[in-house]
Amino acid sequence: MKAIVLKKFGGPESFELQDVKIPEVGIGELLVRVIATAINPLDYQIRRGDYPDYVPLPAIIGHDVSGVVEKVGPGVADFAVGDEVFYTPQIFGPKGGSYAQYNVVPETLVTRKPANLTHEEAASTTLVGGTAWEALVTRARLRPAESVLIHGGAGGVGSIAIQLAKAMGATVYTTCRERDQAFVRELGADHAIDFTSQDYIKEIADLTGKKGVNVVFDTIGGMTLSQSPHVLSDAGRVVSIVDLATPQNLVAAWGVNAEYHFVFTRQNRGKLLALKTLLESGRVRPIIGAKFSLEQIPEAHSVLERGEVDGKPFHGKVVISVA
Ligand SMILES: NC(=O)c1ccc[n+]([C@@H]2O[C@H](COP(=O)([O-])OP(=O)(O)OC[C@H]3O[C@@H](n4cnc5c(N)ncnc54)[C@H](OP(=O)(O)O)[C@@H]3O)[C@@H](O)[C@H]2O)c1
Repeated sequence: MKAIVLKKFGGPESFELQDVKIPEVGIGELLVRVIATAINPLDYQIRRGDYPDYVPLPAIIGHDVSGVVEKVGPGVADFAVGDEVFYTPQIFGPKGGSYAQYNVVPETLVTRKPANLTHEEAASTTLVGGTAWEALVTRARLRPAESVLIHGGAGGVGSIAIQLAKAMGATVYTTCRERDQAFVRELGADHAIDFTSQDYIKEIADLTGKKGVNVVFDTIGGMTLSQSPHVLSDAGRVVSIVDLATPQNLVAAWGVNAEYHFVFTRQNRGKLLALKTLLESGRVRPIIGAKFSLEQIPEAHSVLERGEVDGKPFHGKVVISVA
């Protein structure tokens, strides 16, 4: 099969298109013909060498699949050849990622593709959608009529998180650039705060009458953990999905009985089933910003890292048509 192989840690030129053996299918596993995948910040973080201990080289990486079951291993109960499926391969798992024509995956991580979506649309949702679900539903336990501040609402995770939070009946505050405000409002954000020119702590105080929000969802990092108590209501929850690069002083968290959660997303079918229901109902929609082929993955990495296609900023996921 054709695969984009990471040969060394470094820039996009560290990838090479190669012919490699199709992986063996084990007990409880599926061989899936990958029709589409997508690019995530995790992919370029791995590529540039942020996780050397977890990714032995050479490696096939990639964290979104939409495709068709080509073969089932012994003991597979829920899938048959020809089923259309979508999923995130096991992150740092032994069977490799999605930058290839085929992927082998435990059936427990997979569900059927939403019937109303193309493979490209479905592939654009699995990692970001699963992460947003885990953060807002599993960890923050966001409830109807509560409020949430989503940092980075115009990004891949943020744009699904806004839609999910609205579907759950929450009031959504989000941070983004001025140029992204119409986009996040169209996704359902009730209030958009320009992080380049406004002080979000003051804005949240003004907008909530000093009550604060019930949940902060951080997709950006920096000083968010130590700042969150200043925007939280009493017993509020903070969920972070980013590396803790800077030590932070959480003394203010004490005063508001804050609850902190750190998420490195785990794959499972349950989250995907919930996401599939939301996608099929139209309450969450995929957003595609740029499309490339398997061979163009190095270019697709540059596009995501620069945040620009043809010199212009874009919204939504960078997807890859493999078939
Ligand atoms: N722990 C986990 O399980 C997990 C899972 C998925 C993702 N992640 C991590 O979460 C982060 C976000 O992922 P993503 O896919 O959403 O990335 P993304 O698509 O690149 O989105 C990031 C967004 O944040 C905006 N932004 C930059 N600085 C900001 C600031 N100070 N305040 C508010 N918004 C700001 C960016 O705008 P501009 O592009 O205009 O600067 C962009 O719209 C990445 O670090 C990723 O690795 C973690």
